[in-house]
Amino acid sequence: MATTSPTFRILAIPGSLRRGSHNRAMLTVAMEGAPEGVEVELYDDLGSIPPFNEDDEGDRTPEAVLDLRARIARADAILIATPEYNHSVPGVIKNAVDWASRPPGSAEIVGKPAAVMSSSLSTSGGVWAQAELRKSLAAAGARVHEQGVAVSKAGERFDTDGRLRDADVEQQITALVGELKT
Ligand code: FNR
Repeated sequence: MATTSPTFRILAIPGSLRRGSHNRAMLTVAMEGAPEGVEVELYDDLGSIPPFNEDDEGDRTPEAVLDLRARIARADAILIATPEYNHSVPGVIKNAVDWASRPPGSAEIVGKPAAVMSSSLSTSGGVWAQAELRKSLAAAGARVHEQGVAVSKAGERFDTDGRLRDADVEQQITALVGELKT
C-alpha cells in the first residue's frame, strides 16, 4: 500500500513590520513556490511580541510569545527574511529570537533547521544582517543553514504591488525552501 510522507512545515518570519515589506514578499514567493509535501506558514505577528524582559519569563510569559513558541514547536524548520538596519538586524526580529531562545537549552528552537534571507535597498542586499541573524540563531541553538538569498537594490526588483519580479531570485528562494527539507 502506498504511503504518503507527512507534510514538512516551514514557519516563515518576516523581520519587517512595514506594510509593503519586500522581505515579506520574499516569503510569499517561498509559500507559492513550495514543492509538494512542503507547507510554508507565514508568521506575521512580530509587532505583538513585547520587549524581552527576564522578569516576564515562566508563568508571566506573554501570550504572544507562547504563540510564537508553539508555532516554532509545530514547525520542522524556520525561514526568516530580514531587512538590514544599521548593518545589523531590526530589533523586532532579534527580540523574537531572544524570546525563542528561552528556556536556555530546552527551547523549541534548539536543533531546528533555520535559513535566512534578506532584501535591502542597497547593493549589499542585507548580507550583514544575515550574518548577524545567523550568529544569534546559532547561539539560540538552531541548526543554521549557511546558504541564504540576498536581494540587493530592492527598489528595482519588486513591482509597484510589492511582488518580486526576478525569476532568478525566485528560483533561489524555491531552492532554499527545498534545501531546508533535506
Ligand atoms: C535601513 N536600510 C538599510 N539598508 C542597508 O542595506 N543597510 C543598512 O544598514 C540599512 N540601514 C537602515 C536603517 C534603518 C533604520 C532603516 C529604516 C532602513 C534600508 C533597508 O534595508 C530597507 O528599508 C529595507 O529594504 C526595508 O525592508 P522591507 O521593509 O521592505 O522588508
